[in-house]
Amino acid sequence: MSEAGSQAAPARDGERLLDELAEQPGGPELLSLAADRDDVALVGGAARDLLLGRVPRELDVVLGSGAAAPFARELARLLGGDSEGATVTIHSRFGTAAVDWPGGRVDIAERRAESYPAPGALPEVRPGSVEEDLARRDFTVNAIATPLGGRRRGMLDAVPQAIDDLAARRLRVLHDASFLDDPTRLLRLARYGARLGFRAEERTAGLASEAIAAGALQTVSRARVGAELRLALSEDDPLPALEAMQTLGVLGALDPALRFETTPAGLALSLLPPDGRPDLMLLAQLLLGLAPEGAVKERERAMFALLDPLEFNAGDRDRTIRTALAAPGLVSALAPAPPPSQLHDALAHETLEAVALAGALGGEAATETARCWLQTLRHVSLSITGQDLLDAGVPEGPQVGRRLTAALHRKLDGELADGREAELRAALEAQP
Ligand code: CTP
Repeated sequence: MSEAGSQAAPARDGERLLDELAEQPGGPELLSLAADRDDVALVGGAARDLLLGRVPRELDVVLGSGAAAPFARELARLLGGDSEGATVTIHSRFGTAAVDWPGGRVDIAERRAESYPAPGALPEVRPGSVEEDLARRDFTVNAIATPLGGRRRGMLDAVPQAIDDLAARRLRVLHDASFLDDPTRLLRLARYGARLGFRAEERTAGLASEAIAAGALQTVSRARVGAELRLALSEDDPLPALEAMQTLGVLGALDPALRFETTPAGLALSLLPPDGRPDLMLLAQLLLGLAPEGAVKERERAMFALLDPLEFNAGDRDRTIRTALAAPGLVSALAPAPPPSQLHDALAHETLEAVALAGALGGEAATETARCWLQTLRHVSLSITGQDLLDAGVPEGPQVGRRLTAALHRKLDGELADGREAELRAALEAQP
């Protein structure tokens, strides 16, 4: 945006933003690299979050045409001093670059103008002015930039209403066709609203509903929808984002059987231990309504057909499907609480996410059993190994495993004294 077109904003906001930036990982290096340049600005989520007094997830920078790659390399070199292994990724075709290091990340993009050849298609891009680069963005609060150096250092360039919207905590699209051009913005609307506690202003809310009703989400690739869904699932608190997607009708537009249930999801999250995958567990919860009466194969097919086009990596996709297939059936294994050995047989090969989800789907007794398994019982193991049994004269073969399992069962049920001796005796006494 030209200086004349910039939205008036209190100068101290821009200065405060630069002060905050200097406190962020990579901020001092960015400021020093940009000090003598007119073309480098902080933009997008980074400018928005610093103006709100929040810590940005990464720093978004825009600059002039052809400048992204050399700037990224220079930044990585500067960061090299006190950060191990800054990685530079360059996409010359798109005029973007990223610098990643253990302490942070900077996304760098050359200013561009975008036009959409068809609703939902990827935009055609060409180098653009400051004004065009702001005008291509999703919401006004993400269309604020502040130059990091040169004579306009610390001023704010913004699309009309951006500064007021930020103060009033409002999400507003920049033009009426925004959600039709890029329907992934429907998911972004839910995600930002939930994370920032912002509301869609009236016209934007209406346009979002109209876009969904018009089938906008069917025009965009499922891979792009999947990328946005992954971002929502990995929010610090993903529940409000998923809830907002449901309320907005995004989930229903992806598949009428997708359902998000906040209460069990919240309980399942509280049961899931730190080595579990909350994102996959929530995804599995969304899938529970797919072909619920169908045979396992049919349910599996329905889940695969939905998840595969969203391009989750194969490991995550399969673990999610395993979780969603198993969880409802595990409820009866959890309540009433069976002896620990029986619980072991029912749960040892299930994902942590399936156990936590089942604990949340059942009543209080199921919840407590799941908690006990996940926190304590699943960690119970033997000190002896198969080799100990071979050394004691047990012939090689399946009975080694069976004897170990028998000893583990007795240990789980509290029938063994502490120590290897008791375990070995139990294994040797077991029926082969
Ligand atoms: N953007 C957009 N439309 C999209 C994706 C991105 O307009 N479909 C613009 C927005 O201006 C956004 C910026 O690109 O602020 C950077 O994108 P991204 O990093 O995805 O958004 P952030 O707002 O930085 O999100 P987060 O806070 O989650 O990092």
